[in-house]
Formats: sequence, C-alpha cells, structure tokens
Amino acid sequence: MREGNDQTRFEAIAEDFPEPRFQGLLGDCGEEEQPGIEDLKEWRDWSQIKTSRDQLRIERRLLDFVNSDSRILHVGIGNSRLAKRFAHRVRGIVGMSVSPAEIARGQALAISNYEVLQWNKYRYWNDPSGEGFDAIVDNNPTGFACCLKHLSTMLAWYADALRPQGAIFTDRVGLGWVVSTPGVDRRWRGFDLEDCAVMGARLGLHAIDIDGSVYALVKKAGRGRIGQLERYRHWPPPLRGWLSRVESSVTVRTLNEDRG
Ligand SMILES: C[S@@+](CC[C@H](N)C(=O)[O-])C[C@H]1O[C@@H](n2cnc3c(N)ncnc32)[C@H](O)[C@@H]1O
Ligand SMILES: [Zn+2]
Repeated sequence: MREGNDQTRFEAIAEDFPEPRFQGLLGDCGEEEQPGIEDLKEWRDWSQIKTSRDQLRIERRLLDFVNSDSRILHVGIGNSRLAKRFAHRVRGIVGMSVSPAEIARGQALAISNYEVLQWNKYRYWNDPSGEGFDAIVDNNPTGFACCLKHLSTMLAWYADALRPQGAIFTDRVGLGWVVSTPGVDRRWRGFDLEDCAVMGARLGLHAIDIDGSVYALVKKAGRGRIGQLERYRHWPPPLRGWLSRVESSVTVRTLNEDRG
C-alpha cells in the first residue's frame, strides 16, 4: 500500500534521523500492511535449516542470563531449536516469524510454555500478557529492513516490551547480514553496533559489546542501582565493567559518548 508523495515522506523522516550514518537510507517505504523485505523464495522458510552460528553465540550468553522466572521473546524462530533448548529453563517463550512453515514447525513441537505467533516484526506489537520480556533475541534485526521508519518501529516495540533489567540480544554477523533479494540497499549490510547505539539511544537503550560478537541493548538505568545484579554475575568483562560504572553511580555512558 503506497500512498502520498514518497519524497515528502522521506524528507520528513530524514529530519528524525539527521546523523550522517543514516543518510541515504530510505526514510519511509510507505508500506503499512507488510513492511520489510521478503527474502528470495528459496530462503523464506528456515524451519528445516540448521541454527545459524550467530544465534548459537547468543544462546550461549542466554544460558547465563535467564532463570526459571524469565520470559524470552524470539524473533525469527527458524527451526525453533532455541525453544527446545530453553523451554525447560524459563517460564515462557514467545516465538515470532512471518513464515507459515516455521510457525507450523514450532506449533508441532507442542511445548506447553512456547507460544508461536505469525507477526511481522516491523509492525508494532503489544504483548497481550503485559508481562514484558527479560530477553529479546533477534539475530537479524536489519536483515529484512525496508526503511528507517519501520526499523525504528521495531526497535521501539522491542524497548517497550523489555522488562527493566532485560536485554535485547543480537550479533555482529547477523546484524551485518541482509537478504539476497535484488535491489536491497547495500547500506543495511553494513549495520553495526554503533548504528544500534545511535538508534537505541533515542529509546533509552544502551548498546553493549559483550564479547566482540554478541551485542546487547539494555535499558538505561539512570543514576542509582541497576537492581538484580545477581543475574549478570557470570557475564564476561565488558558487561561487568559497564555494570560497575552504573553501580557506582558514575554517569551511564553510551557507546557513542565513549567514543566521542
Ligand atoms: C535468516 S533466518 C534466521 C533464523 C534463525 N534466527 C537462525 O539464526 O537460525 C531469518 C528469520 O527471520 C524471520 N523473518 C524474516 N522477516 C521477518 C519479519 N518481517 N518479521 C518477523 N520475522 C521475520 C524468518 O522467517 C526467519 O525465521
Ligand atoms: Zn518500511
């Protein structure tokens, strides 16, 4: 559904994204029903494809992060192996995908605390339970992105759906990946941690490089204690270092500010 003047719309949204790093990316694609880029037909269904290495790297971090009270939101469920691996460790998992075959495979697992939803992540989603999530996993947040408006819509609802001490997890490789569909803006391919940091900062999120591969976006804690520090106890040094700055009430700095 395209309507109105694309150029005007682009200019309006470009004002929202004045940073040189985002210049040239489409501001608003105009599609409201099914935003995002569909992958080539042969790649649309990941239900039978082996879990990617980037998702496995995130899963390794999740093992330390979640506990029996956690709720996980997995966006882009692929083969649903994440749910099989984590369902008995957490309270609940919601899996999201646009692929009917992936949804069918997820449902066929009949895991009682795994709910599978067909939903396009570039549209705002409200968790009907209102409980929020401790971990949101999306290893390809920009891989299917159509425009800045829809990417920021996705990030906004991720932020809203995150519990105060929760984290959005992604991965350097997955973040840089884009669909092979012809005509896709190659700039999305270069998306990196600093791009996430700039976008996340608008939503009160801080980008953290956990180990050079896995990245997390966490809610700005403000001054004072972050709370529930216990759950981060086993995390690797970069995150612990960041947390100790928060803990001692030193100014919480974003990656951008760190790098001037
Ligand atoms: C490259 S596959 C990765 C699958 C799995 N996360 C892994 O790493 O093994 C991308 C996943 O994102 C899903 N996906 C693509 N576009 C989407 C959209 N607009 N909203 C929600 N999920 C989407 C696909 O159906 C697929 O599950
Ligand atoms: Zn769009």
